[in-house]
Amino acid sequence: MVFPTETVYGLGGNGLDTMAAERLYAAKGRPSNNPLIIHIHDPAEADKYAYAGHLYNRLAAAFMPGPLTVILPKRDCIPYATTGGLDTVAVRCPDHPIAHALLEACGIPIAAPSANLSGKPSPTVAEHVIADLSGRVDMIIDGGESDIGLESTIVKIDHDQEGEYLTLLRPGAITADALTCVCERVVIAPAVLEQLKEGERPLSPGMMYKHYAPTIPLVLLDGDPADILAFLQKEQDERSCAILCYLEEIPHLKNEHLFPVGGRDDLATQAHCLFSLLREADKTGASVMYAHLPNKSGLGLALYNRMIRAAAHTVKQV
Ligand code: TXA
Ligand code: MG
Repeated sequence: MVFPTETVYGLGGNGLDTMAAERLYAAKGRPSNNPLIIHIHDPAEADKYAYAGHLYNRLAAAFMPGPLTVILPKRDCIPYATTGGLDTVAVRCPDHPIAHALLEACGIPIAAPSANLSGKPSPTVAEHVIADLSGRVDMIIDGGESDIGLESTIVKIDHDQEGEYLTLLRPGAITADALTCVCERVVIAPAVLEQLKEGERPLSPGMMYKHYAPTIPLVLLDGDPADILAFLQKEQDERSCAILCYLEEIPHLKNEHLFPVGGRDDLATQAHCLFSLLREADKTGASVMYAHLPNKSGLGLALYNRMIRAAAHTVKQV
């Protein structure tokens, strides 16, 4: 069953049941070694399913319910099918009235990956779910547009001789700076920013897979804003291209496939629109798709992480 959350739509099943996990992997076409997040209605419930310590409690007090997922050592009640064979489990308490009511009514943790076909952008409206999973799921609860539009921030609690620290496995709306307010040391996992080398295993299995990929090749443009605009003006005359542009650029472009992502500095709107626009731009049949390379500060890091994957790390210096 598919349900809305404040980040993206989730495809839910019983987090305590091996068969349910197998059906979720099958419906998405997802490898079964890529673990699922369990969703709970009260942050305090985490300790029933995982070993949640002080740092979890501090994170929960600051950010839950909300777009934060915490990786914790799992308890025996969580099957290995849910965690893709790992001894840890990802726990999240969504901040959405429908998700909350559903979790409270079920009384079990709901394992829920994003409700897209594996490799496609996560769904932020029910129509995306229908496009990807029609006939593969029994029910979709339509809660309108997801507020945030990018998946939750994922952190893992780690220890070394200096004490506890957080490893950021997937950036999201809870930014690295915000996390620093709760835990001084936040380490960004290499797979967040870079392409992994052949055979290298990421800390979060999901980082291994091709992701968010449109069919039309996406090229991210880096450089001076005026130079990028000049490049786009030239390109639109020479070839059929889809452009994810800033609002400020609209008066200067006359392309039939323009997709405004929001104002240049309006990162929240850009996050909200990104996955929808990637899907829309992909329908144009253009030969290439262009977008701006986001900078990596604040919410920009989450945009950068998703877009660099969608572009298969193709960046053009202009
Ligand atoms: O916002 C979200 O998190 C959405 C909504 C539906 O809650 N869910 C979501 O789930 O994005 P999914 O399955 O599409 O992405 C979960 C990511 C995957 O990359 C997976 O590898 C990672 O979380 N993950 C899950 N359990 C993990 C674990 N025990 N250790 C490391 N990474 C884990
Ligand atoms: Mg996903």
